[in-house]
Amino acid sequence: MAFVGVVYDSGYGHTAAQARAVGEGVLRVDGAECRMFFASDVAGDLEALDACDALIFGTPTYLGSASAEFKSFMEATSGKWARQGWRDKLAGGFTTSGGYWGTS
Ligand SMILES: Cc1cc2nc3c(=O)[nH]c(=O)nc-3n(C[C@H](O)[C@H](O)[C@H](O)COP(=O)(O)O)c2cc1C
Repeated sequence: MAFVGVVYDSGYGHTAAQARAVGEGVLRVDGAECRMFFASDVAGDLEALDACDALIFGTPTYLGSASAEFKSFMEATSGKWARQGWRDKLAGGFTTSGGYWGTS
């Protein structure tokens, strides 16, 4: 059994819809389990992600970057990073944007 966590932020629902589609894709794989985490919720409970074999991160594109909420989540993981606590996990990511460019 592989346990996949999808960690995402979404201000207006588009990235949330994409996150649901990613989660549905995970569940189509034999032996894969999926759990969804809202970035600002799990930022204060990072141990909830320790059991994941893979993490897929999703953020809206805001001003050519990740959203502020998602960056807060990223900053919250700095201790995990320093200890290489998630070193052996697979990782992926996605974003939604209004255009093909970084700023609009
Ligand atoms: C504050 C803000 C900044 C944005 N900046 C960009 C941008 O730099 N490039 C772009 O293509 N779209 C930009 N967009 C459009 C969003 O990326 C797009 O609407 C996205 O689907 C929003 O995702 P969400 O509904 O999950 O919040 C911006 C939207 C907002 C609200």
